[in-house]
Amino acid sequence: MYNASDNRYVNMKFNRCGRSGLLLPMISLGLWQNFGGGNPFENSRAMLRRAFDLGITHFDLANNYGPPPGAAEQVFGRALREDLLPWRDELVISTKAGYDMWPGPYGSWGSNKYLTASLDQSLQRLGLDYVDIFYHHRPDPATPLDETMGALDRMVRQGKALYVGLSNYRPAEAGRAVGILRALGTPCLIHQPRYSMLDRWVEEGLLDLLEKEGVGAIAFSPLAKGMLTNRYLEGIPPDSRAGGPSVFLHPEDLTDTLLAKIRKLDHLAATRGQSLAQMAIAWILHEPRITSVLIGASRVSHIEDCVAALTNLAFDETELDEIETILS
Ligand SMILES: NC(=O)c1ccc[n+]([C@@H]2O[C@H](COP(=O)([O-])OP(=O)(O)OC[C@H]3O[C@@H](n4cnc5c(N)ncnc54)[C@H](OP(=O)(O)O)[C@@H]3O)[C@@H](O)[C@H]2O)c1
Repeated sequence: MYNASDNRYVNMKFNRCGRSGLLLPMISLGLWQNFGGGNPFENSRAMLRRAFDLGITHFDLANNYGPPPGAAEQVFGRALREDLLPWRDELVISTKAGYDMWPGPYGSWGSNKYLTASLDQSLQRLGLDYVDIFYHHRPDPATPLDETMGALDRMVRQGKALYVGLSNYRPAEAGRAVGILRALGTPCLIHQPRYSMLDRWVEEGLLDLLEKEGVGAIAFSPLAKGMLTNRYLEGIPPDSRAGGPSVFLHPEDLTDTLLAKIRKLDHLAATRGQSLAQMAIAWILHEPRITSVLIGASRVSHIEDCVAALTNLAFDETELDEIETILS
């Protein structure tokens, strides 16, 4: 029997998401990796319980998270049923569609046909009547943007999503999509781009656009899939993303040049009394246009370590300069 901690809101900090009424925790938890069918349910459940007890109210999913695709939504649906449903109104649950989900011409990209069916399937797996945020997961160069945004608008009107967002859209196409959504009467709540010390493309126009349009920003893979942590300082552990079967991080990604930078960053983090993961999170949150960082985790201790980043979010100029020097 799970009972949420009475202290769950003591240490978490919240940011307003763009010019909306919704507050998001500065740290959110994503279920892309480590919550699939092959992962022990008890570990997934322990991470979700601990996250909520630490004030993480926002959980991020997508139709294709697994493996197999759909499994993470099923796991989260079970955790809701067995643990978290009494607190549904304290949760912000997001899902997405845009990548390959089922065979044939209607199981990917951005058509009305695909997005509408996919959200219905997601709601079924999650056991919910609505999600809080529905995202278009990636831009579709072949489908008219009006059709894709029209599908998002209808989901909100049908009560199947409270808010809508974009992910992986570059500034020009994001600007067009935000304009279409506003004209339809369903403002874009949030954009979900990749952002970390090792991948800074959002600094070249996207954050300016989101600020101007009043759209929130949630940074995914803030730890560069685990590389901006102590995980790989002593080699490649077999139970890590790079050491396991994941196709999303490979041992060869950890080059000597990169590891040298990571070691220097780890040393700097230690002088701040932080783990490298904590400094990497604090560095992103130091950018005021970021609403939340969207971490992944494979164990409870990762979530505890990441949330503790909130106790030291300040950087002085010397530290920021040193980070730039290390990264350059
Ligand atoms: N919209 C999109 O296209 C998109 C794409 C990718 C991700 N996302 C979202 O972003 C979320 C996070 O992505 P991500 O998993 O790549 O994020 P990440 O936070 O960059 O990496 C998470 C990994 O870092 C390691 N880690 C986490 N905390 C740690 C700590 N305190 N100390 C040491 N190691 C730690 C773990 O690696 P090990 O597993 O090796 O232990 C964990 O799985 C996803 O779940 C998803 O919701 C969205």
